[in-house]
Amino acid sequence: MNKKSINWGILGAGKIAGKFAISLKQVENACLYAVASRSQEKATAFAEKFEVQKAFGSYESMLQNKEIDIVYVATPHVFHYAHSMLSLDFGKAVLCEKPFAMNRKQVEEMIATAKTKNLLLMEAMWTPFLPHIQYLKELLESQKYGKIKKLTADFGFDAPFDEQGRLFKKSLGGGSLLDIGIYPVFLALHTLGIPEKIEAKATLGKTEVDEDCEIRFLYRENVKADLKSSIIKRTPTVAVFELEHAVIEIASRWHEPSTITIISSGETEMKNFEVASYGYEFEARHVQEMLFQGRTESNVMTFQKSLELISLLDKVRELIKLEY
Ligand SMILES: NC(=O)c1ccc[n+]([C@@H]2O[C@H](COP(=O)([O-])OP(=O)(O)OC[C@H]3O[C@@H](n4cnc5c(N)ncnc54)[C@H](OP(=O)(O)O)[C@@H]3O)[C@@H](O)[C@H]2O)c1
Repeated sequence: MNKKSINWGILGAGKIAGKFAISLKQVENACLYAVASRSQEKATAFAEKFEVQKAFGSYESMLQNKEIDIVYVATPHVFHYAHSMLSLDFGKAVLCEKPFAMNRKQVEEMIATAKTKNLLLMEAMWTPFLPHIQYLKELLESQKYGKIKKLTADFGFDAPFDEQGRLFKKSLGGGSLLDIGIYPVFLALHTLGIPEKIEAKATLGKTEVDEDCEIRFLYRENVKADLKSSIIKRTPTVAVFELEHAVIEIASRWHEPSTITIISSGETEMKNFEVASYGYEFEARHVQEMLFQGRTESNVMTFQKSLELISLLDKVRELIKLEY
């Protein structure tokens, strides 16, 4: 790309869109150019609050704007496929929130379309771009403390029950697995790979979505990952790796900027990682580098990794009998 700065367009003016907008201010050569909402009033209010140059009252009207280089899709899960495809159809690069889509078939189509159009597409799974997770990944790969024997990771909060809100409403893709269970599943995939066997159970609530979910991934040599998510119960939200010669703990909430503690031979070492904003700036920087270099697929959050992640989620959903 022959440009000095990247014009971002935010599609959907909800909660995460606001946090992303704040993080984007940390990113060199990033321009918070446009926001689109289904309501002009909401788009204008968002633009004023987060200092966005242009506010559009429909998604299509923003996508018609030729100045936009990349669209950040920040709508509920069930719209990720349609809004990413729409953005690609308008010739825009896309960073789409997690989960990438509702099932593997949709993710395959999104990737095929991006490839055909030679456009950048990436799932906004921001965790692997965070400094503490990058440090962890290198540490695990070095096998300085031996191999992983077990991973335990959870993510749980007690959201007030709201039948119409996206967390509980089935038609909006509600439930704990796709919203936050995706993080422990991702961590297991990122560090241990694809399991040989999966066990899972969940409590489906009044709105027929999984209010909590427990997953066990079984790997060769008795290695396992115990993963949990809940939208009705606050849980510690820590990740613990038991290795042959150490225990590595990522403090709560481990999926966002956090600290790492290594306990080995009776010694405890704590590592802090300074982060200036929420942490979304790291994935945004990565995406911008790709655009400047003319790359269309991330070497971190690869298409293969997104396909593996959605396949694991599909498999868990099959086990807990959760169909959308
Ligand atoms: N990476 C992260 O850390 C993180 C954190 C939270 C959420 N997320 C992901 O981001 C996505 C959005 O989450 P959120 O918490 O920002 O949700 P939210 O506050 O409900 O915002 C979603 C936005 O989507 C738009 N939308 C379009 N059609 C809609 C419909 N039929 N019903 C409701 N909203 C609709 C709305 O924007 P307009 O009204 O402006 O059109 C709404 O404000 C989810 O997929 C979630 O998994 C990621």
